[in-house]
Amino acid sequence: MNNWGIVGIGRIGLSMARNMSDKGISLSLYDKIFENKSDPILEEKKLYPELKKVSVFNDILNFIESIERPRKILILVPSGNPNEQVISKLITILSDNDIIIDAGNTNPLISYRNKLKIAKNNILYLGIGVSGGTQGVLEGPSIMIGGDNSAFKKVKDDLSLITSKTIENSKSYDFFGDSNQGHFVKMIHNGIEYVEMQLIASIYKLLFDSNNYNNQSIAQIFEDWNNNLNSYLIDISTQKILEKIDDKYLLEKIDDVAEDNGTGRWMLNYGVELGCSLSMLSSAMDTRFISKLQSERNEINKNIKQSSKKYKVDVNSLKSAYKFCSLVNFIQAFCLINAANKTYNWNISISKVLNVWSNGSIIKSSLINDLYSNYSVENILSDKKIIKDLNHCKSDVINIIMLSLKNDISIPCFNDALNYFNSISSNSLSTKMIQAQRNFFGSHSIKIK
Ligand code: 6PG
Repeated sequence: MNNWGIVGIGRIGLSMARNMSDKGISLSLYDKIFENKSDPILEEKKLYPELKKVSVFNDILNFIESIERPRKILILVPSGNPNEQVISKLITILSDNDIIIDAGNTNPLISYRNKLKIAKNNILYLGIGVSGGTQGVLEGPSIMIGGDNSAFKKVKDDLSLITSKTIENSKSYDFFGDSNQGHFVKMIHNGIEYVEMQLIASIYKLLFDSNNYNNQSIAQIFEDWNNNLNSYLIDISTQKILEKIDDKYLLEKIDDVAEDNGTGRWMLNYGVELGCSLSMLSSAMDTRFISKLQSERNEINKNIKQSSKKYKVDVNSLKSAYKFCSLVNFIQAFCLINAANKTYNWNISISKVLNVWSNGSIIKSSLINDLYSNYSVENILSDKKIIKDLNHCKSDVINIIMLSLKNDISIPCFNDALNYFNSISSNSLSTKMIQAQRNFFGSHSIKIK
């Protein structure tokens, strides 16, 4: 009998199987695509000796029978239909008190529905967000957990074996509450990730289009910055800037249409639902959406006069502007967590969230550690230090935005960060006029100070 079962042996599933097996957890593996294959991961077993011990099944019933009770079944199939199908099938064949662990990027609303559906069948449910990509999952992912507390207690020792050491010297997993709060925290992680990715992309674009920097010199700037930023996303971007295909830089040849898996859209929906500003995420998502209008963009571009550009970028100012934007990104995400806690009666601790993200996650960086140690993250808008830091960097953001405007370079997210700061620090917003207009045509009542 094996300790755990994994359903879904794609790239992430394989990394997870390698990590778990390497730590001495005995595994049964199953994937729909294994059906009719006699030894489906023969090649992988040759490449990775730690997989020699795992049992591989091409029949789901035999797979289930091979796992000790109460069974722990980890699902790592794409979110949406494939994930729903696996859960529906498992419900019909598992026994009382077995545990279904959905480790996909599942929409928190669906995660909640699944929990109820699973509980009706006397099966326990954990919804877990797993961050780290193929390498991170292999080396020690960041794991955000929600669902049944008694199920959590049954899996936590094994999770300790496969995760990384955090800033608190604990391991990079935590339980955030019943129902769908693990998937919610993962969704927030992804929203932060999207904005960070866009900020780095905007910086690369501003530098490259200046005609004063090439890929080598931009990579050097990123590398220098990363001596103290220690950002995973800056690190991988540096590697991608230097990557070549047939003697040309990848970034000169790569198609610019950007896809998304939906997590950013769900977070925007939560923002609307809870009345929270997520202007930076909205801008990052807009940019991906606009990128899809490729033929339209190409046509319009033909009718726009292009001036040849050459401008100077103050790299220190750019780094300071980047810090400003990253801080606002976290402020917006933290405010959404607080609003969810208040509205849904949850108790997600932002410090705990930062601790889990501090290692193994895609957004790991010194900034996470800095926020954790030096700011009052649970009440970020009352924190004097963050406001002082933002004020200090503000003139740099203005300089960088002005530079981009003068040279027709779109640097999404920068302007949204500045606008947010200007609004959040104002004691007299333009909404006075909104209230007056509402009062005129809708006879809505107004408050006179
Ligand atoms: C992670 C990532 C991962 C996500 C990819 C792709 O934490 O490991 O967030 O879960 O699926 O980043 O996301 P998009 O396809 O939406 O860019």
